[in-house]
Amino acid sequence: MGMHKMKIGLILIVTCITFLTPVHLAYLPSATISDLTLKNLDFAMNLYRKISSHDDKNIFFSPLSISTSFAALLMGSDGVTHKEILKGLNLGQLERADEPELIPRLFQLLHENITQGGSLKLEHGMALFLSQNFSVEEVFQDHIEKYFEADIRSVDFADSKGSISFVNEYIKNKTQDKMTDMLSTLDALTKLMLIDTILFQGSWRKPFNPNFTSNAPFHVNNYNIVQVPMMFLEDKFYSMHDVALGAKVLRLPYREGVSMLILLPNKGVDYTVIDDAITAKRFLSWIKELQRSTLEVNLPKFKMESSYSLQNLLPDMGMTSIFSNTANLTRLSKEEGLKVSEVVHKAMIEVDETGTIAAAATTSGIIPYSLPRIFTVNRPFFFFIYHEATNCVLFMGRVINPIENHPS
Ligand SMILES: *[C@@H]1O[C@H](CO)[C@@H](O)[C@H](O)[C@H]1NC(C)=O
Ligand SMILES: *[C@@H]1O[C@H](CO)[C@@H](O)[C@H](O)[C@H]1NC(C)=O
Ligand SMILES: *[C@@H]1O[C@H](CO)[C@@H](O)[C@H](O)[C@H]1NC(C)=O
Ligand SMILES: *[C@@H]1O[C@H](CO)[C@@H](O)[C@H](O)[C@H]1NC(C)=O
Ligand SMILES: *[C@@H]1O[C@H](CO)[C@@H](O)[C@H](O)[C@H]1NC(C)=O
Repeated sequence: MGMHKMKIGLILIVTCITFLTPVHLAYLPSATISDLTLKNLDFAMNLYRKISSHDDKNIFFSPLSISTSFAALLMGSDGVTHKEILKGLNLGQLERADEPELIPRLFQLLHENITQGGSLKLEHGMALFLSQNFSVEEVFQDHIEKYFEADIRSVDFADSKGSISFVNEYIKNKTQDKMTDMLSTLDALTKLMLIDTILFQGSWRKPFNPNFTSNAPFHVNNYNIVQVPMMFLEDKFYSMHDVALGAKVLRLPYREGVSMLILLPNKGVDYTVIDDAITAKRFLSWIKELQRSTLEVNLPKFKMESSYSLQNLLPDMGMTSIFSNTANLTRLSKEEGLKVSEVVHKAMIEVDETGTIAAAATTSGIIPYSLPRIFTVNRPFFFFIYHEATNCVLFMGRVINPIENHPS
């Protein structure tokens, strides 16, 4: 009797193992998040060059958030539209016919890696607002909820006023009241709107002492000098000099494995020249060549809020059909005539002394007899906020004038 039962038990276990193995393997992606971050990095730099060629003001955006939103739309698209998004996001090499969920799965893994344990304060939200006349394909809805934690909401766009306040209220809720009045106008013919919000509040690993912050000149250009609150900190930092480019690089670490990389053109080097030279390869070479030394850092406090209508930028990167009448979004909805009317991207950043007063500055060993080198950010500069373990760029921007809050 006992023997008999045991046999059954064993058989069951064996059956379970052989049954489970292939299922488990199917969830192991055939590429890594490093493959994805490399592709994302190229996309980020390409998009940056497009934005900077349209704009001579401050710039701030989240490439990760934009590529994530379009990776979500990728799953709803087919035909030419699908091919264009893949190419625009630079993800063609990660598309596998036998593994249709590879790209969304990698995005999910990347987001999990970055926000590990919830210690990083990165609030990311995605929502699709869809005209009520369209019904969403179940597979698409499942995937977008599973991999991107996105919400899908049905909106009566014909009622412009009502839908504006609905969308604005939704975003306000999602961003803990930090982003209000995101939309002011809305086309009554809107069919599909993708909204993506991202909010970052980092605390420096080595906070600046607010007592040392004082007004100092910032040279916007040869003719325009503004007074900005300049923060000061002396400590050991990682920095490097890109001689070929004519710019210096400084890494300012936040807590939670994220850093801000500042790229400061040398005196007399025009920032528009640097604009065109920023590439993924260069970015990675800066990180690789950083050296530790004692530095006196002077960095302006700044606050930026930016908003971009990506439907005006992405067509320049080959993504045209998704915004046109030839859009193929048949995997999102079977109904005809669906195209993306608007992609609004809004990002906010505040750079100040601490973020948390509790962590007092620990000014470590000032080397005697050798004066520290000085890194003074008193002219237009670039910055990249990136996750160190993955080299994933969460945000990037350019500051032409630190006291001008609204770049666009
Ligand atoms: C969308 O693309 C698929 C695959 O190429 C094609 O079969 C379908 O006819 C296209 N639909 C539309 C509306 O363009
Ligand atoms: C959309 O649906 C509403 C009712 O839900 C209807 O009044 C309207 O005519 C429809 N619009 C189109 C373009 O089909
Ligand atoms: C926003 O949150 C409030 C209270 O939590 C809720 O009453 C309201 O329905 C929410 N609005 C949207 C658009 O989700
Ligand atoms: C700033 O100065 C005030 C007043 O002198 C002092 O109480 C405070 O401890 C200083 N803060 C830091 C972080 O050094
Ligand atoms: C996050 O990604 C990096 C780089 O691929 C890897 O070294 C690290 O182990 C990952 N962490 C987790 C918890 O997956």
